[in-house]
Amino acid sequence: MNKILLVFGTRPEAIKMAPLVKKFKEESDLFDCKVCVTAQHREMLDQVLQWFEITPDYDLNIMRPGQDLYDITSNVMLGMRDVLKAYQPDAVLVHGDTTTSFATALAAFYQQIPVGHIEAGLRTYNLSAPFPEELNRQLTGRLAQWHFVPTSLNKNNLLSEGVDEKTIHLTGNTVIDALYWTTDKIKRQALSAGNVDANVISVLKDPSIQTILVTAHRRESFGHGFVNICEALSKLARMHEHVAIIYPVHPNPKVKEPVERYLKNIPNIHLIEPLNYQDFVYVMEAADIVLTDSGGVQEEAPSLGKPVLVMRDVTERVEALEGGTVELVGTDVTKIVDRINHYLTPENNFISKVNPYGDGKAVERIVSTFKAHFNN
Ligand code: UD1
Ligand code: UDP
Repeated sequence: MNKILLVFGTRPEAIKMAPLVKKFKEESDLFDCKVCVTAQHREMLDQVLQWFEITPDYDLNIMRPGQDLYDITSNVMLGMRDVLKAYQPDAVLVHGDTTTSFATALAAFYQQIPVGHIEAGLRTYNLSAPFPEELNRQLTGRLAQWHFVPTSLNKNNLLSEGVDEKTIHLTGNTVIDALYWTTDKIKRQALSAGNVDANVISVLKDPSIQTILVTAHRRESFGHGFVNICEALSKLARMHEHVAIIYPVHPNPKVKEPVERYLKNIPNIHLIEPLNYQDFVYVMEAADIVLTDSGGVQEEAPSLGKPVLVMRDVTERVEALEGGTVELVGTDVTKIVDRINHYLTPENNFISKVNPYGDGKAVERIVSTFKAHFNN
């Protein structure tokens, strides 16, 4: 039996690895698949595990309030040393660009266990943005033997870096598999947005109110960037009585503190706890405009048919920019306010639904690659 270990630690990795865990578990005659969470995130990770009904086999439980990059890197390395020694997998799969992914790939390399990199090949080629994710992704790529790329542009990035074409597999992004699984489960079980605040639901259902959904957490925006974001939101809220801003606030103290200080008492700004995935999907579908710096939201957005403004100066997800479904606005107050005002005008509000990131079959392709590999 071939032993596969999937390792992840944060909310977005968990969302994107969940459908892969399910697919490997369906193939239990071929694979012994185990899940290790580092718990770089705790509550936000547990929300995802619960929704996708995944019970980890190993839990490093490393999250500490206000942890820094040294804490995460060293605790993941030490924890993974022991898990890898105990389980001795034939392959370790990591995802994307977090410090969990990079440190796990390095820990596997030290025990000469081959690594598969899911969501490989995204690049800005700017080590300051996103920070430290651009370096995490490049280093994980150097350590990996299998590169599962969402798009052909990601494949070309790796080819231009000299990666052997035989090791690159074009699969689409597993986030689309997760999104389809979620919308199906919502329909199948006739679920409503159970945990969303009643005020937020009533605002979303009120046809006289336009809604802007906001998420933000990037390290390169800490300090000045977040002050700007808050100023832009407060200006927009004061400018438009019939606009509501719905903002599930990331629990990082470097985010939560300025956001609460600047935005707490503005009546048409709803600061809420992070939403579980199904509730977030519901709010995303119901909102008129999305304003975000999230990687995952940029990938989900083109399926929504609504404007998505990205509060970053550069993005490694350029396909949707080229497709016209997302637009970069940075963290400049005037630019954010101007572009939101533009999209609040109903004739500018419709964006076509074309998703360049996947077709919902990424995990099937990834598992097939491993079937073929272990058969040879
Ligand atoms: C991490 C990833 C980033 C990813 C983001 C997704 C790194 C370096 N950063 O950044 O790539 O885009 O997750 O959200 O890998 N916290 C909680 N509860 C939680 C989660 C976080 O309280 O469930 C708080 C803690 O105080 C924690 C802090 O947030 O110390 C920061 O978490 P951390 O994982 O270090 O950074 P993120 O900004 O979340
Ligand atoms: N998300 C969620 N609840 C929220 C905000 C976001 O479930 O309150 C989901 C979102 O749909 C996307 C993922 O979390 O799939 C993005 O996570 P995040 O923005 O934290 O990280 P990034 O993608 O930027 O690494």
